[in-house]
Amino acid sequence: MAGGARNSVSGLAKEFTFLMRWAFSAFVLYLAALMLVAVPALAQTQTTVPETSLTDRCLTCHRQEYLGRLQVDEQQKDLYVDPAAYKDSAHGLLPCNACHTGFSHDPHQMVTNAEFFAETAGEACRNCHDDQFEMYKQSYHGTLTRDIASDGVEAPECVDCHGTHAIQEVATLEYRQSIQDVCGTCHGGRESTFLDTYHGKAITLGREAAATCVDCHGAHSILPISNPQSTLSRANILSTCQQCHPQASQGFTTFLVHITPTSPKAPVIVFLVAVFYLVLIIAVFSFGGIHTLLYIYRGIKDGLYFGKGGH
Ligand code: HEC
Ligand code: HEC
Ligand code: HEC
Ligand code: HEC
Ligand code: HEC
Ligand code: HEC
Ligand code: HEC
Repeated sequence: MAGGARNSVSGLAKEFTFLMRWAFSAFVLYLAALMLVAVPALAQTQTTVPETSLTDRCLTCHRQEYLGRLQVDEQQKDLYVDPAAYKDSAHGLLPCNACHTGFSHDPHQMVTNAEFFAETAGEACRNCHDDQFEMYKQSYHGTLTRDIASDGVEAPECVDCHGTHAIQEVATLEYRQSIQDVCGTCHGGRESTFLDTYHGKAITLGREAAATCVDCHGAHSILPISNPQSTLSRANILSTCQQCHPQASQGFTTFLVHITPTSPKAPVIVFLVAVFYLVLIIAVFSFGGIHTLLYIYRGIKDGLYFGKGGH
C-alpha cells in the first residue's frame, strides 16, 4: 500500500517535470518565433527612421533663404526649398535622396555643375515613373530636348511641366484647370484660342469633364498633328473626340477647337458669321435700349410715374 502511494507520488512528480519541460520548450519556441518576426521589423525601422529624418536634416540648411542662389551656366538655381510645400506635395513622404541619389550624408559633396542638373531633371524621375519617361522620350518634346537641345530650342522636360519640390497630384479639378497655363507658358497663342472656345470656357467654369490640352494632344506622347501617330492625326482624331463624345461622327471633328472667330485670320465663313452676330447683337441691344428710353420718356410725359394723371 505504502509503496503504491510512494509510486503514485513519484509518478505525479514525474508528470509535473514532464509538463514543465513541455511548457519550457513551448516558451523557447515562442521566443524564437518572436525573434523571427521582430528582428526584421526592428531592422526595418532602423533603416527607415534615419531616412525620414534625412529630409529634416537636409532642410535644416535648405529651408534657409540666405543660402542664396547657385550660378549654373546662364541659369540661377535657388537653393531654398519650401518645407511646407514639399511636405504637401505628391512626394512629401519621400526622403530627399529618393531623387538626389548619392546625397545620403551631410555635409554633402559639392557636385555643382550643369551635368548634375541636366541628369537630375530627367533621370531622377525615371527610376519611379518609367512609363511616363519612355513615352516622353518618344514624343516631339522629348526628341527636341534630346537631339536639338543645343540649338537653343526650349522644349520642356519633366520638371518644366511638373515643378521639382512641390509636384502636385494630377487627378484634381485644380490641377486640370492649371494645365492650360503649363502649356501656355510656351504656347500662349494656343492657350488664348483654347480659352475662346467651348472647352476652355467650360473647364474655367469648373466643368471638370471638359477637354484640356492633354485630353486632345496627350501629355507625354505629344506629336505634331502631321505625324500619323498623333492623337489628332486624320486617322486618330475621331476616336480622340469619341472618348467624351461617343456619338461624334467624322464631321464633328472639323469643329475648330483653336479659333478666335472675330480674328481676320479665321476662315472667311467663320469670320463673316462672327461679324454678322456681332453686328446683330449691337443692333438688337441699341434698338432695345432706345425703345426702352422712349417708353420711359413717354411714361413721364403721360404722368405714369409721378401720379399727375393717374391710370
Ligand atoms: C550644412 C548645410 C547643408 C545640408 C545639411 C545640406 N545641404 Fe545641400 N547644399 C548646401 C550648400 C551651401 C549648397 C551650395 C553648394 C555650392 O555652392 O556649391 C548646397 C547645394 C545642394 C544642391 C545643389 C547641387 C550641388 O551639389 O551644389 C543639392 C541638390 C542639395 N544641396 C541637396 C541636399 C540634400 C538632398 C541634402 C540632405 C541629404 C542636403 N543638401 C543637405 C548646404 C547643405
Ligand atoms: C521628386 C524628385 C525630387 C525630390 C524628392 C527632391 N528634389 Fe531637389 N531637385 C530635384 C530636381 C529634378 C532638381 C534639379 C532642378 C533643376 O534642374 O533646376 C532639384 C534641385 C535641387 C536643388 C538645387 C537648386 C534647384 O532648385 O535647382 C536643391 C538645393 C534641392 N534640390 C534640394 C532638395 C531637398 C532639400 C529635398 C528634400 C526636402 C529635395 N531636393 C527633394 C528633384 C527632387
Ligand atoms: C509638356 C508637359 C509635361 C511634361 C514634359 C511631362 N509631363 Fe507628366 N503630366 C503632364 C500633365 C498635363 C499630366 C496630367 C495628365 C492628365 O491629366 O491626363 C501629367 C501626368 C503625369 C503623371 C501622373 C500619371 C499620368 O500619367 O497621368 C506622372 C507620374 C507624370 N506626369 C510624370 C512625368 C515624368 C516622369 C515626366 C518626364 C519624363 C513628365 N511627366 C513630363 C505634363 C507633362
Ligand atoms: C522614389 C520614387 C519616385 C521618384 C524618384 C519620383 N517620384 Fe513621382 N511619385 C512617386 C510616388 C510614390 C508618388 C505618389 C503615388 C502615386 O500617385 O503614384 C508620385 C507621384 C507623382 C505625381 C502625381 C501622380 C498622380 O497620379 O497624381 C507626379 C506628377 C510625379 N510623381 C512626377 C514626378 C517627377 C516629375 C519626378 C522627377 C522630378 C518624380 N515624380 C520622381 C515616386 C517617385
Ligand atoms: C518649355 C516650353 C514648352 C512647354 C511648357 C510646352 N511646349 Fe509644346 N513645344 C515646345 C517647343 C519648343 C515645340 C517645338 C516648336 C516647333 O517645332 O516649332 C513644341 C511643340 C509642340 C507641339 C507640336 C506642334 C508644333 O507646334 O510644333 C504640340 C502639339 C505641343 N508642343 C503641345 C504642347 C502641350 C499640349 C503642352 C502642355 C501639356 C506643351 N506643348 C508644353 C515647347 C513647349
Ligand atoms: C478639343 C481638342 C483640343 C484641345 C482641348 C486643345 N487642342 Fe490644340 N489642337 C487641336 C486640333 C484639332 C489641332 C489642329 C487644328 C489647328 O491647328 O487648329 C490643334 C493644334 C494645336 C497645335 C499645333 C499643332 C501642329 O502640329 O501644328 C498646338 C501647339 C496646340 N494645338 C496646343 C494646344 C494647347 C497648348 C492647348 C491647351 C491650351 C490645346 N492645344 C488644346 C485640338 C485640341
Ligand atoms: C476629355 C473629354 C473631351 C474630349 C476628349 C473632347 N471633348 Fe468636346 N466637350 C467635352 C465636354 C464635357 C463638353 C461639354 C458638354 C456639356 O456641357 O454638355 C464638350 C463640348 C464640346 C462642344 C460644344 C457642343 C457640344 O457638343 O456640347 C464641341 C463642339 C466639342 N466639344 C468638340 C470636340 C471635338 C471636335 C473634340 C475632338 C477634337 C472634342 N470635343 C474632344 C469633353 C471633351
